[in-house]
Amino acid sequence: MWSRGVLLALLLTAGGARAEESPLGLGREATEAEVAAWDIDVRPDGQGLPEGRGTVEEGGLLYDDLCAACHGDFGEGAGRWAALAGGRGTLTHRDPLKTIGSYWPHLSTVFDYTRRAMPFHAPRSLTDDEAYAITAYVLYLNDLVEDEGFELSRANFMDFALPNAGGFIEDDRWSEPHYAPGLEPCMSDCLPGEAKVIGRARAVGVTPDGGGGFE
Ligand code: HEC
Repeated sequence: MWSRGVLLALLLTAGGARAEESPLGLGREATEAEVAAWDIDVRPDGQGLPEGRGTVEEGGLLYDDLCAACHGDFGEGAGRWAALAGGRGTLTHRDPLKTIGSYWPHLSTVFDYTRRAMPFHAPRSLTDDEAYAITAYVLYLNDLVEDEGFELSRANFMDFALPNAGGFIEDDRWSEPHYAPGLEPCMSDCLPGEAKVIGRARAVGVTPDGGGGFE
């Protein structure tokens, strides 16, 4: 059980009381600058896009320096690193190639992800202009922009719909019967029939042979 003191501390914190005034004296409120530094998400409707601009050409130079070693000269992916381009029309194949051009629904994710997480060894090192330039270059690598002089900015960002934008559906699982409100979850004998083993890892070829390691 929580002691009354702990509960009071939680209540005070939840109420926005300054931590140094709380009984435990822990923590402090984040400053505006700290919140701004973390509040960098860019959403599909363009909310959160910063001011900035960058051309395909500028993005290409940055990409060659900062990204190509892992993602390939043309976004094809070096070795086992992720491909950022190509794969259009493969989503229904047995082995689909999911890239920004073939699979991703929103350009905002390219900007957000790149600015937030890439390059892998130095996340959050790109300026906003650099993130715009590299996003423009990724469009170019995916044949979605043809002109090397093209400039991407906050003003024209929302003009781009990625090819697979319509390929996603809303998650409507809560409308399925087994999520009906008030339904008691099944805790025993839930399968309609007998469970039947239809394949074993080794037989269906997902377990490497011998040695236990990958070849
Ligand atoms: C050292 C290797 C490395 C470098 C350099 C690098 N990346 Fe990545 N990138 C990765 C890895 C690893 C992932 C997958 C990360 C994960 O799934 O958590 C990734 C994922 C991505 C993805 C998501 C791909 C997908 O389909 O899921 C994008 C977009 C991306 N990187 C863009 C860039 C850009 C732009 C640059 C240059 C500014 C860059 N990366 C530099 C290693 C790298």
